[in-house]
Formats: sequence, structure tokens, C-alpha cells
Amino acid sequence: MSALDTAENAMWRQKARDVAEKVVRPLSKKYDDLQEYPWEIRDALAAAGLMKVWIPKEYGGEAGETPVLNLCIVVEEISKADPAIGVLFAVNALGSFPILVGGTEEQKQRFLPRIASGEKLVAFCLSEKTAGSDAQGLKVRAVASGEGKWKIHGEKKWTTNGGAADFYTVFAVTDPESRSRRISAFIVEKDMPGFSIGKVEDKMGIRAVPVVETVFDGVEVGEDRLLGGKLGQGFKHAMMTLDRARPGVAAQGMGCAQGALDLATVYAQRRQQFGQSIASFQMVQKMLADMATQTEAARQLVYSCARMLDAGLPNTSKVAAMAKLFSTDVAMKVTTDAVQIFGGYGFMRDYPIEKFMRDAKITQIYEGTNQVQRIVVARGILKEAEALTHLSAYIPEEDQMVYEG
Ligand code: CAA
Repeated sequence: MSALDTAENAMWRQKARDVAEKVVRPLSKKYDDLQEYPWEIRDALAAAGLMKVWIPKEYGGEAGETPVLNLCIVVEEISKADPAIGVLFAVNALGSFPILVGGTEEQKQRFLPRIASGEKLVAFCLSEKTAGSDAQGLKVRAVASGEGKWKIHGEKKWTTNGGAADFYTVFAVTDPESRSRRISAFIVEKDMPGFSIGKVEDKMGIRAVPVVETVFDGVEVGEDRLLGGKLGQGFKHAMMTLDRARPGVAAQGMGCAQGALDLATVYAQRRQQFGQSIASFQMVQKMLADMATQTEAARQLVYSCARMLDAGLPNTSKVAAMAKLFSTDVAMKVTTDAVQIFGGYGFMRDYPIEKFMRDAKITQIYEGTNQVQRIVVARGILKEAEALTHLSAYIPEEDQMVYEG
């Protein structure tokens, strides 16, 4: 329990911690080795009601007063035990946010309750082979095939949860001539004719969750599956989704860092060298202190970003990007140092720590690379700079500087 948790936050934290310690941690190595979807873990997450944390009550969920913060807490607790399961869980929020932020009432009623119950999993299909950071450059087409009908053609890349998921929120070009209304989003189901899974990736980390290519070979969708019932809103909905989902990746990174720090702390106290525990050496203490400080700073940024989103504050893209980039950079640094504390054993797969380092790497890349996050942060700062123009009076004009030497 964090000192500032409300009763609601503490309830979600405890539920997540129970599943994390009883089910996730003991099975972590098995599914990392197998690189297979852990259905028994999915069942435990669903049975504990954790899939309801981000979905409002009217759509079968149990989102409370602070749904983004509660989601971050759940992802943090799961990621402390296994960061791969952190994303396996959080990617369902990523896939369902387009429906939450942009879906019609009918679409929300139709799809969200089955996600909340854990009966159905969902995936987010934005990236393509030639459209990663440049998400507007995507090429998958949805071509009109009759009154209120479209056929989707093309391939998506890096679909996390692909193959396991039942629903796919798919972004496709409907108006190639338009600059700002080029893209629309559709909800596809796995058994629709023309939908299939292509290459299944063999990954460095997050091996328990599948990352695949998804193939759309003329998948026909009707108006009822056009997100929000309107064409041309897809890019806006994708960006709004990422603003809400990036705090979840930030929580995954922060939980991953905390999990690695916890293991390193236990090991540093146990490992004897030169007749004493390595935790008694100042160089190791300095490492632990820096790791703990960075992880705590990441936690506070994640929580404050989540509280801003929960309060409905405008212009939260900047802080969501800050939380994502800071926490995931911390995850990489802290997990690398944790492996260092484990020394030679840390490099071996018999020990649980190297997995944290492998799992951390992708958090700096997916849901927008940390380079893209810095673009979003910089744009946010420059947008807000109007409020600072009065400061210009205190900065001399360069051509009016007089040399008085
Ligand atoms: N909310 C609402 N609208 C937004 C917005 C936001 N946060 N950001 C941009 N928009 C709107 C703009 O207002 C603009 O609208 P108009 O055309 O009407 O003026 C439009 O979208 C285009 O905006 P930009 O010109 O800023 O877009 P850009 O092409 O310069 O791209 C970007 C900006 C930040 C680089 C964006 O492309 C981006 O975030 N890229 C990274 C994509 C990403 O995160 N991909 C990961 C996918 S998920 C994944 O990793 C796999 C997985 O399964 C886990």
C-alpha cells in the first residue's frame, strides 16, 4: 500500500498484488521460456475482476473515481512480478480505449462488457512495416464496397495480443486525398472472413505476450463497425487513445524498475564477498540509492499524470509523454544496474533478473518511441509558451547589446 492510496486505490492494489504474487510470479519463467500466451494467467486476472478497472460501470466495468490511476496501480503491481504480464494486461486497455473515446453508444454497449468480464481480449492495430513513428503514413486501405460497407486490405505490424485477441481496433485509410481526414478506425473480430495472423515475432523480451503481423485480406465491415459512425476521425482517435494509454506503459516501466530493485536489494543482502554482504559496500549502496530515487521519481510522475487525466484536465498529452519517457528510461537504467548487482549470476537465465532487463527495453520503443515522446513534450512546451512572452522584456535584444570594455 502506498501512503497516499485512497481506499479505492488500495483495493485495486491489493487485488493485483494477490494475483501477481500467487499466480504471475511463479509462472513467469515458464511462459518466458515457452513464448506462449499464458491463458491460466489471463483467467486469474479476469477472475479477480482486474479487466474491469478501466471500464465504466455502465459498460460492465468497475471504473471508480480515479480509473487511470487505478489502472496504473494494477499495471505497476503486475509488472513488479513480471513486466511481460504487465503489458499482456495493459494492452487490453490500449485496444479498448478507441471504443471508449470514440465509439458510438451502441459500440460501447456491444463490445466493452465482454472485455470487462475478461471473456474477450482486444488488440490495437496502428503500426505498419513502413509506418511506425509516422503513424499518419499508414497504408492499410478501407475501400467502400457498397452502401455503408468497406473492405479492409493490407497488413499491420507489431500487433501486441494478436492471435490471442478476439477484437481488433484497426486504423485504415478511407480518404487518401485528405490530409487531416485520411484515416478511419474500424472494429474487426478474429473470425471475420479475410482476417488472419501473419508472422509471429520471436522476441528479446515480453515473450509471454504475442506480437504478430495481422493480415486483412478484404475483411468486410459495415457502418456498425466504423468507430464513432464517422469517417476521417481515426488519427485523432489514435492520438487520444495513446494519450490515455501511455501512462499505462509508464506504470509498466516503473513497476518493472521496482521489481528489479526489490530483487537486487534482497540479493545484495544475501550475497557474501570479502566476508560480508555486498549490501554493506558503499558502492552497492550508492547504486541501490540511485535506483530507488529514480524509481520513486517515476512513480510520482506516473501518479500525478494519472490524477491529471482522472481530473479531466485539458492538454494532458505532454504529461502523458513525460511519464512514459521518464519511467521507461528509468526502467532500462534500473534493470541494467540490477543485473550488475547480481554480477555473473545476473547474466544467467537461471536467475530472475535478466528477464527484467530484456522486458524493459521494449517499453522505450512501443506506444511511441521515447524520441517521439520528446517531440510531444517539446510541442506541448512550445504551445504553452504564450504565457511566458512577458519574460522577453528581461532578455536583452542581441543587436542592442553595447560593448563597454
Ligand atoms: N489528441 C487529439 N488530436 C491530436 C493529438 C492528440 N493528442 N495529437 C495530434 N492530434 C491531431 C492534430 O490536432 C492534427 O489535427 P488537424 O490535422 O485537424 O490539425 C492531427 O492530429 C495531426 O497532428 P500532427 O500534425 O501533430 O501529427 P504528426 O504526423 O506530426 O504526428 C506524432 C505526431 C506525435 C509523431 C504521432 O504520429 C505519434 O504519436 N507517433 C507515434 C505513434 C505510436 O505511438 N505508435 C505506437 C502504436 S501502439 C504500439 O506500440 C504497439 C502495441 O500494440 C503496444
